[in-house]
Amino acid sequence: MKGKKGIIFGVANNRSIAWGIAKKLLDSGAEVAFSYYGERLRSNLEKLLENYPGCKLYECDASDEAQLQKVAEQYKMDIGQCDFLVHAIAFANKDYLQGDFYKTPKDVFLQALDISAYSLVSMTRTFKPLMVSGSSVLALTYLGATAVVQNYNVMGVAKAALESSVRYLAADLGPEGIRVNAISAGPVNTLAARGINDFTQLLKIHRQVAPLRMNTIPEHAGGAAYYLLSDLSAGVTGEIMFVDGGYNMMAVGSMDAYNLK
Ligand SMILES: NC(=O)c1ccc[n+]([C@@H]2O[C@H](COP(=O)([O-])OP(=O)(O)OC[C@H]3O[C@@H](n4cnc5c(N)ncnc54)[C@H](O)[C@@H]3O)[C@@H](O)[C@H]2O)c1
Repeated sequence: MKGKKGIIFGVANNRSIAWGIAKKLLDSGAEVAFSYYGERLRSNLEKLLENYPGCKLYECDASDEAQLQKVAEQYKMDIGQCDFLVHAIAFANKDYLQGDFYKTPKDVFLQALDISAYSLVSMTRTFKPLMVSGSSVLALTYLGATAVVQNYNVMGVAKAALESSVRYLAADLGPEGIRVNAISAGPVNTLAARGINDFTQLLKIHRQVAPLRMNTIPEHAGGAAYYLLSDLSAGVTGEIMFVDGGYNMMAVGSMDAYNLK
């Protein structure tokens, strides 16, 4: 990744999937800028980046197009070209990441889709003028987009919109040589994930059912992101790549994972 420059949205702390991606890119020589949400997270980032001096940090609420535009303008002045863009953000009111999905109110539904899915569209549009042939956009998704995972609820619907957006963006930007893909990660114990009811149960089931018998860690996403953001994947776009220890292709896994009595 030497000589490549880009921006990552979504590092909250050292557990963030985006931090696993950031470390991999930084260690492989890329120039990485970061966008964070809320002043409180800036100090987390500054601490994480102590060994990587000079990274540019920009505050942004990704659901606000004016703020996104401002970040792109600052990025253009500071860095210029955008070879990679990582969208690793999501939000839904945790009161509705439990119980019945049909009870989700309209405002909760719209907010989840706005922050977790539409922001990929507006982010890509905003940074596109800085992209060139060979640039690569990456989003983070989860199996709950295409299959029901208890409690994932409105986030599953948002991820379905995100995955479809990946394909439409890939079709739009492909003729200009710009690629758009997503990593579908297995459950990782992060700040965002802890908003999902019974998340520790989900982690446990995952490591018992996944063929690799382990939970996904940010470093797993880092390796896959390195591939998808580098020229190694020059022929790949519109792809949803599972990085979940193989969980997604299991139908009935180890019977021990289900507490059947
Ligand atoms: N943790 C998992 O189990 C898992 C699995 C698959 C996919 N994902 C996806 O990975 C991505 C990263 O999440 P994570 O699990 O690393 O959690 P995380 O809490 O570390 O990261 C979520 C990020 O979203 C940011 N964010 C929320 N609202 C925002 C807004 N309005 N503007 C800008 N940023 C905002 C937060 O500041 C945070 O940095 C998300 O898209 C998530 O859905 C997570």
